[in-house]
Amino acid sequence: MINIELKIYPDELLRKVSKEVKNIDQKLSKIYDEMCILMNNEKGIGLAAPQIGINERFFISKDFSNDSDKTIIFINPEIIEADDIVESKEGCLSIPGHYDYVKRNNRILVSYFDLSGKNEKKEFLDMQSIVFQHELDHLDGILFPDRLPKIRKDIFFKKIDKEFKK
Ligand code: CO
Repeated sequence: MINIELKIYPDELLRKVSKEVKNIDQKLSKIYDEMCILMNNEKGIGLAAPQIGINERFFISKDFSNDSDKTIIFINPEIIEADDIVESKEGCLSIPGHYDYVKRNNRILVSYFDLSGKNEKKEFLDMQSIVFQHELDHLDGILFPDRLPKIRKDIFFKKIDKEFKK
């Protein structure tokens, strides 16, 4: 069993640009299982590897396409196309208790690898698309408040710095 722990702002690992996954193996599959447990315990809808201190390019997300409890893993994910701007109210397990509205693309075309090493290309809409963008940002060291307009961004960071930076 692998023990994983949620990293909370301002942990510096949340600010690193993650490296491509080289090996899709049993170890990654075990990390995926642990991430699913952690995400469900925390009642999250997505969780990226840097949030558990692993600076590699993968994340998990709820499957919003049906009513199943399935959680999808996205390995070496990329956005190929993006359009339709929407505002989404977002939060983050690494910044607990704080929410704000950021602009995202409602439709994206993506590429990623699954645990069997197969390359998938899919179109995502709505929540599936928004969560994908939020989690992909984590792989580049970007947190959702970074995407706020300047004034709201300053206010947001002032608030969370006061709460989390001790
Ligand atoms: Co997040």
